[in-house]
Amino acid sequence: MHYSDFLLSNTKKLLLQALRGGYAVPAFNFYNMETLNAILAAAEITKSPVILAVSESALEYMGDDVLMGMIRGAKYKKNQIALHLDHGHSFESCKHAIDLGFSSVMFDGSALPLSENIKISRRIADYAHKFDVSVETELGVLAGFEDEKTNSETHSYTDPDLVRDFVKKTQTDSLAIAIGTSHGAYKRKDKNESLRFDILKQIAKNIPNTPLVLHGASNIPQKYVQNINKFGGNIKNAYGISPAQIRKAISMHITKINVDSDSRLAFTAALREYLYKNKNNFNPRDYLSAAAKEMTKNCIDEIKNIMHSNNHAK
Ligand code: G3H
Ligand code: 13P
Ligand code: ZN
Repeated sequence: MHYSDFLLSNTKKLLLQALRGGYAVPAFNFYNMETLNAILAAAEITKSPVILAVSESALEYMGDDVLMGMIRGAKYKKNQIALHLDHGHSFESCKHAIDLGFSSVMFDGSALPLSENIKISRRIADYAHKFDVSVETELGVLAGFEDEKTNSETHSYTDPDLVRDFVKKTQTDSLAIAIGTSHGAYKRKDKNESLRFDILKQIAKNIPNTPLVLHGASNIPQKYVQNINKFGGNIKNAYGISPAQIRKAISMHITKINVDSDSRLAFTAALREYLYKNKNNFNPRDYLSAAAKEMTKNCIDEIKNIMHSNNHAK
């Protein structure tokens, strides 16, 4: 299948519009019907372009047929929504997503030697572009968990001197960079630590026409951390990147913002609260709806107050 059969948007098109418009397109991860519909509700309410992000492990969790069946059945406007493979780790994984009908794939070769990263990124871009599918690649290594499969304990910031050549050789459509963000809810020892805007400035100067991507960009709303702990959870020292820093990064050419942890926190906080307050309810439709509703609320808040992508759906 091709993504246009699902009325999905070309991802590069959404990102170039954002680059020109000075806002960012949110990429929200999902893993099941509730989280998919939670994101789509936020997109509809805010009239924002949105990228639906599926990691390799989320794809494995849902299964190809369930995922694509949900996409087929989902309600969204034509060309407002993209479907994206998040952190693909091989040519085969990216090809598989393209063949299923994804509109973009990320190849995460950040842990590989540079020449290997370039070689595989280019092979994926050559395959993807035959189908008008967009490709995101990564240069530099984020601290913390890149996902369940890669744990980079050390990080290395993206070298601005390498980006122009990397984009040219790989023919990538967008580039994920490392400027101090990290995946998960435990991002920083010092919560006031600044992102490396000096590096971002150099990168944007060297590749002004390439949309830049920020992974690990959750802000970890403390109200959710507090509610999780209030209603039986135990999450300590969880801090994210402040909305002010993300907004500044967007004003400096970041055009795709990846958020997963904030959604997980919103969903879990509401779920815990619901179950705590409704001790005799054991209907999954009730407590999952409550959780999804809070996730929608958080997506709307981030779209309006961080990404500024509301009312930009074409
Ligand atoms: O960037 C990673 C995402 O948060 C996906 O994580 O592999 O647990 O689905 P996951
Ligand atoms: P967070 O863990 O900060 O939400 O990052 C998600 C991400 O980068 C998905 O690719
Ligand atoms: Zn990521």
